[in-house]
Amino acid sequence: MLALDRWLSADNISLMLSTDNRAELGRILTDIGCYLDDNPPALSLPPSAYTSPELWQLERERIFNRSWMLVAHVDQLAETGDYVAVSIAGERVMVVRGGDGELRAISPICRHRMMPLVETGAGRTDTLTCQYHMWRYGLDGRLRGAPHMAANKDFNPRDCRLPQFAVATWNGLVWVNLDADAEAIGAHLDLANDEFASYRLAEMVQVESWSHEWRANWKLASENGHENYHVLGLHRQTLEPLVPGGGDLDVRQYSPWALRIRVPFTFPLDVKSLQLNEVQKSNLSVLWTFPNSALAAAGERVVWFGFIPLSIDRVQVLGGVLTTPELAADSAATAQTAQFVTAMINDEDRLGLEGVQVGAGSRFAERGHLSPKEQPGMLAFYRNLAEALGGDQTGSG
Ligand code: FES
Ligand SMILES: [Fe+2]
Repeated sequence: MLALDRWLSADNISLMLSTDNRAELGRILTDIGCYLDDNPPALSLPPSAYTSPELWQLERERIFNRSWMLVAHVDQLAETGDYVAVSIAGERVMVVRGGDGELRAISPICRHRMMPLVETGAGRTDTLTCQYHMWRYGLDGRLRGAPHMAANKDFNPRDCRLPQFAVATWNGLVWVNLDADAEAIGAHLDLANDEFASYRLAEMVQVESWSHEWRANWKLASENGHENYHVLGLHRQTLEPLVPGGGDLDVRQYSPWALRIRVPFTFPLDVKSLQLNEVQKSNLSVLWTFPNSALAAAGERVVWFGFIPLSIDRVQVLGGVLTTPELAADSAATAQTAQFVTAMINDEDRLGLEGVQVGAGSRFAERGHLSPKEQPGMLAFYRNLAEALGGDQTGSG
């Protein structure tokens, strides 16, 4: 276990906390630190991990300011001016295709007096015009025009540019990182190439995408995606016949940032447009990127998810469904894809996790014992969480 002193030493943490709050955060971090032990406790996180403002601040600083997050598929950003704008733990980020063909992740906060230049969401635009006083920026973030500013000799419009974050594409999926100097995420995801290359992800087309909001802490969404045990309950009518909740997970951690989970199907899939081996046909293969992004390959159909934290108890769920060009052109397969989409993006997880968030606020809530069916994935997530909060995770910028 990491020494508490190190987690909370004055120069190691920039939060100003009261003694009580510091003690509470210390208790949570002590519990989380135990997941680094060789024999971690088979317990869920303490309830306060989902409600503590102090832990949320620490997560913003240690995790969301320096982690890669999946926010789009390139099909959503194909044309000049196509953009996706998100709010990552309170920080606005806009990923936009420039006139030069480059994808950029920029801070869409006006350099004049801080007005956001776009709402969160997706769209297409040719310039970014601030509605407050009409300063205008190009898609590369450079200032193009600012009314009545020429007489201000201290202001040089050529120096005025929106800050940039890191952006990367991996097999058609678009990732952002608030740390502009972050190490490339591709180096970690490429460790999964042996298992995922035959899905031909880079050639897949996106046939569906969505953005929902759940009233739950982001960790509940990530945990939920690291186990399949809940299919017994939340998805007993929809997913249980295909990926039973009683199946045993096979978890492989490639690096602190990348992890694969195999979830057995009830029967092997009939795959027409890909050359998959028996293991791939017989398992849902999920590639997780810590802390909050995943893609789940079910034969010729792949779903991606980004669970973007909005606040301590709200998460934006971004996602899309990809398939091979052959399948996308096949009308019978399209009907099956639609069924698959409906099953994957049903409201069942939202209802479940919003309930758990309410439960985490109960004075009587306690840590729960984990089933062996859920332990492999959840304990891996908790260990990565402990490493990230402890500042131990290698591979960050
Ligand atoms: S805040 Fe944007 S133009 Fe004034
Ligand atoms: Fe689920």
